Amino acid sequence: MTLRSEAETSRALRLDGRGRLREATRAAHERLHGQKLLAPLADGSIGLAAYRALLARLYGFHAPLEAFVAASPWAGRVDAALLAPRAPRLRQDLLELGVEAAELARLPRVGSSGLPELGDYGRFVGCLYVRAGSTLGARLLAKALDPLLGAGNVLGRGFLAGGDGADLQWRACCAAIDGATAEGCWDSMLAGADETFAALEAWLDAAS
Ligand code: HEM
Repeated sequence: MTLRSEAETSRALRLDGRGRLREATRAAHERLHGQKLLAPLADGSIGLAAYRALLARLYGFHAPLEAFVAASPWAGRVDAALLAPRAPRLRQDLLELGVEAAELARLPRVGSSGLPELGDYGRFVGCLYVRAGSTLGARLLAKALDPLLGAGNVLGRGFLAGGDGADLQWRACCAAIDGATAEGCWDSMLAGADETFAALEAWLDAAS
């Protein structure tokens, strides 16, 4: 009989939970690739006005979502890196792209009815999976901005480019998925992820 080391067992659990989440949410994720505001970003055809409008809409989603997860009763159970806000970087990008601070303050923000329901720990982790996972694809989207912003120009794309904070966040996310999977929270984790994808899609569609 072959015994698994602790590290191998942990890796198997992570692949299981994360891999299953990826497969189960594949359709929701791929629908976003074709979403009207996001598609021109992915194919490198986006113009400045449309890029600013997209970032503004993302800001109106991420800022309230981040406040919501930080205030959740489950917030103390995860590594702080997983909750690190990314909306301030979005705000900075918008300012770098010439949006006035007063205009930022007037941007519409998603209300609580437009956010996922996070009634248990699994849903909470599922929601954070969508938020942290989005930084993986976002790196590629940041590169697709070269025709618009110029190769080597970092201004206006810090949110998408991610950086070290996004790496830490993703690692903390994988650890949280490990834990929630081991606790048997699979169904609620998937529900939280599904609802978060759906909430973002609805929010973007409402502006398209
Ligand atoms: C045009 C838009 C998008 C494109 C082209 C895209 C593309 C990608 C790609 C290529 C990956 C894999 C990256 C890697 O493994 O290194 C990825 C991962 C991921 N993306 Fe997106 N993405 C887009 C938008 C989004 C949005 C808006 C969200 C959610 C808010 C999202 C959530 C995720 C998640 C959760 C993962 C991790 C999947 C996993 O478990 O491996 N994506 N994306």
